[in-house]
Amino acid sequence: MTIMIDEINSQPKVLEKVLAKSRKGVRDLCREVRERKIELIYIAARGTSDHAAVYAKYILEIHAGIPVAFAAPSVITVYGGKPGLQNALVIGISQSGKAEDVLEVLRHAGRQGSLTAAITNYEDSPMAKEAAYHFSCMAGEEKSVAATKTFTAQMMIMAMIAAGLSGGGELMGELETVPAKISEFLADFGVPDRIVNKYKDMQECFVLARGTNYSIALEGALKIQETCYVRAKAYAMSDFYHGPLALLDTSIPVFLIAPGGLTDEGNMEMAGVLSGYGIETTAVTNDAGIKGMVSETIWVPPGLSDFTSPFVTAAAMQLFACKLSLAKGLNPDNPRNIKKVTITR
Ligand code: AGP
Repeated sequence: MTIMIDEINSQPKVLEKVLAKSRKGVRDLCREVRERKIELIYIAARGTSDHAAVYAKYILEIHAGIPVAFAAPSVITVYGGKPGLQNALVIGISQSGKAEDVLEVLRHAGRQGSLTAAITNYEDSPMAKEAAYHFSCMAGEEKSVAATKTFTAQMMIMAMIAAGLSGGGELMGELETVPAKISEFLADFGVPDRIVNKYKDMQECFVLARGTNYSIALEGALKIQETCYVRAKAYAMSDFYHGPLALLDTSIPVFLIAPGGLTDEGNMEMAGVLSGYGIETTAVTNDAGIKGMVSETIWVPPGLSDFTSPFVTAAAMQLFACKLSLAKGLNPDNPRNIKKVTITR
């Protein structure tokens, strides 16, 4: 047993806690967003936390109708730029709450009187203290260098903010189903050893997805890079057609994150293209149509929406990376060259 597996398995409990205990803070923040007539959400984050921001962009723009922009912190920290954020909600996301460049974005926003929020796993972290609102990941200490439970907690907090701003209870109702869906995946589906062993010697791969699951393509690739030292590269399917398609080679496997939902048509089209070029493809899906077009399937439970499926596909990719790392004889909890907290300025 590895710490990473324990932390993957703890996600349903962490998310139940986040769902139960973040409501008041989310309500207060959403009230202030409405009162201030906020017109832009500006997010700063690094690594895995940045991928939670990608999920947040989709869910906030679709449900709250507010455009979401990503900060390039060096604009402020290196170039001394002063982007005007007076009418923005500025959110910093960081597991540790110590990301210095993200903190600097929050400080810059604070100096302009912008509304600020931080999502971190530590109440006493510099970012938690800096922002007007703090949301805790409530994940307990995350010991594995590869972030898992803090990632889905960050996504859940952002999704709750989207639900709060949308004013409707429907999205919140969907989010409530997430802990049980992850539990169902972990208990009844999982990642078959046979698939893991097949990719034991993999050196390179592509991870593709469309829409809300693009965040999980990015995060799945990062998990595979850091725990398995495999050159995994993520693309939004739509971008993949615009050049990277030329990289397709029968020696490079593709992972297609394609749970059922509104992206089905695009997913099927990509599965067809990959199959046409003879590419070894593994789909993370609950769609029997996709299964017929790919070499391997990591099944996820049915009944997921475009907004809930990323939580389950995240667990699937975390588990795949962890098991692949072990199959390669590596220690997923302690990847070479990196520490749990990485400070960039
Ligand atoms: C996560 O698996 C990585 N080890 C890494 O990208 C991490 O997410 C990154 O260092 C960000 O840290 P933070 O969330 O504490 O700011």
